[in-house]
Amino acid sequence: MLKTIKPNVIVHAAAQPSHDKAASIPFDDFDTNAVGTLNLLEAAKQFCPESPFIHMSTNKVYGDAPNRVLLKELDSRWDYADPAYENGISESFTIDQSKHSLFGASKVAADIMVQEYGRYFGMKTVCLRGGCLTGPNHSGVELHGFLSYLIKCNLEGNKYFVYGYKGKQVRDNIHSYDIVRFMEEFINNPRTGEVYNLGGGKDNTCSILEAFKIAEKYTGQVQNYEYIDNIFVIIVI
Ligand SMILES: NC(=O)c1ccc[n+]([C@@H]2O[C@H](COP(=O)([O-])OP(=O)(O)OC[C@H]3O[C@@H](n4cnc5c(N)ncnc54)[C@H](O)[C@@H]3O)[C@@H](O)[C@H]2O)c1
Repeated sequence: MLKTIKPNVIVHAAAQPSHDKAASIPFDDFDTNAVGTLNLLEAAKQFCPESPFIHMSTNKVYGDAPNRVLLKELDSRWDYADPAYENGISESFTIDQSKHSLFGASKVAADIMVQEYGRYFGMKTVCLRGGCLTGPNHSGVELHGFLSYLIKCNLEGNKYFVYGYKGKQVRDNIHSYDIVRFMEEFINNPRTGEVYNLGGGKDNTCSILEAFKIAEKYTGQVQNYEYIDNIFVIIVI
C-alpha cells in the first residue's frame, strides 16, 4: 500500500487499545501494537522516508512509575507534592522498572522503535504519548474512554463504579481537535525522533469526583455511583 501511495504524511493510530484484553490475547496485542508499528516503519523507510511519521503512543509507557512521586491529598483530588512535578511528569521520566500491563509493554516496544527509526535512520518520527483523549465521536466503555463513559452514565442514570483512591485520582483530558492541531504543527515543522507527552495541561485535568460535579452542573442529573475499595490494579485511559 505505501509502495503505491507514497503518502507525504503517516499518522499511525491503529492499535489494540484495551489494557484488559491484552492479558488474554498477548500475541495478538503484541502483533498489532509492536509488530504492526514495525511493519509500518519499515515500509515508510523503504517507500517514503522523508514523510513525517506520527505515532499515537500513550502515557502508559511510564507504567505505574509516576505513582512513586510523592502525593498530597486535597479535598477532591490527589496532587503531586513535589514542586518539580507541579505540572506533571516530563518525557525524560523513566519508562523502566514499572508495571505497565501487557498493553503498556507492547506500546513501549512500538514507542522505542519509532524513536529508533528517527535516531538511527534520520526519519522524521514523533511519538505522542496521549493521556485521556476525548472528542465528539469517542465511544467510551468502562475501562476505556473515561470522560465519554462517565458522561454517558450520568445522562442515562447508570451506575459508575469508582475503583479506589477515594475517587480523587486525576485524569488529564485533551480534545481530539487539539491533538490534530498538534499533528499539523509537527507536519509543518517536522523533527527527528521526537517524543511528546500529549495532554490538556493541568487546567484540563479533573479527578473522578470533580468530573461528577462538572457533569452534574451541565446535565442537572446527580451522578449514580458506587465506590469500590481494595483495588490492586485498575488502569483507565
Ligand atoms: N483513547 C485514548 O484515550 C488514548 C489515550 C492514549 C493513547 N491512545 C492511542 O491512540 C491510538 C488510537 O486509539 P483509540 O482510542 O482511537 O482506539 P480505537 O480502537 O478507536 O482505534 C484503533 C484503530 O486501530 C484499528 N486496528 C486495530 N487493529 C488493527 C490492525 N491489526 N491493523 C490495522 N488497524 C487496526 C481499529 O480498526 C481502530 O480503528 C492508539 O494507538 C491508542 O493506544 C488512545
